[in-house]
Amino acid sequence: MTALEQPLAAPWRVEQSDCMRLLASLPEGSVDVVTTDPAYSGMNQHMSFGNGRIVGRYSDAANQRWFTEFRDDPDTFLAFLRECHRVMRDGGHIYVMFDSFSLLSLGHLMREVFAVKNLIVWDKVNLGMGHYFRRRHETIVFATKGHRRLSRRDLADVWPIKRIHRGAYPTQKPVALFSRMLAGSAEPGMMVCDPFVGSGSSAVAALLAGCEVVAADIDPRAVRIASDRCAAVTAGAPDPAQRTAAVESRP
Ligand SMILES: C[S@@+](CC[C@H](N)C(=O)[O-])C[C@H]1O[C@@H](n2cnc3c(N)ncnc32)[C@H](O)[C@@H]1O
Repeated sequence: MTALEQPLAAPWRVEQSDCMRLLASLPEGSVDVVTTDPAYSGMNQHMSFGNGRIVGRYSDAANQRWFTEFRDDPDTFLAFLRECHRVMRDGGHIYVMFDSFSLLSLGHLMREVFAVKNLIVWDKVNLGMGHYFRRRHETIVFATKGHRRLSRRDLADVWPIKRIHRGAYPTQKPVALFSRMLAGSAEPGMMVCDPFVGSGSSAVAALLAGCEVVAADIDPRAVRIASDRCAAVTAGAPDPAQRTAAVESRP
């Protein structure tokens, strides 16, 4: 049973909203698990070279490859984490994804708010870009509010899961990545929250795990794609944005 004041009519809700506005709308202690992949601006601002930034201009509205960045200065990020902490119940679990820049600039702030338990490596299996060592991984910080163990003891902290090529949305992550986050943290009926839901892969993973989802994204494209996916999965139809198997079995 959800602790939200107005129970969800469907098991999911995806709003077009700023992350802080979504969190402010949720009652204290109403979320069991947060799984999220924020739109950090640091990587784009600081890892530039030559005449341009490495990943194009986020601010250019005509550039449909990218999306709005979250202002990721330490104060804003801390305020975001504190709001996550407020809406989580005691014993709640949180998974926050970091790229290599934000991991060093912001990752340590997780410790000011939560009990950090693991740094998890997402091994994307195939080589990505990079001017020194080519990037093949991202990091997920796993932390808790208070104390609750994982429900499984067989989960490793390196997750080899192939990245999505030419997805429906920029930086669309595989559903299997979020299914791994939920594997030892969620049980059917729990409330999962993603304030930066993008294409909705985290929401699909939560629905497949029998959970309810409350999520937001500032980008209307993202909200449309995520809502379509949630509606399809809830109706028992295939995920329209990821045709391959949505859940990995190997822990
Ligand atoms: C890295 S993407 C998430 C991708 C997602 N995990 C997926 O699999 O598709 C980050 C998302 O954060 C959204 N975003 C940026 N600033 C935001 C804000 N202030 N509040 C909510 N969402 C925001 C962007 O529009 C983008 O869709």
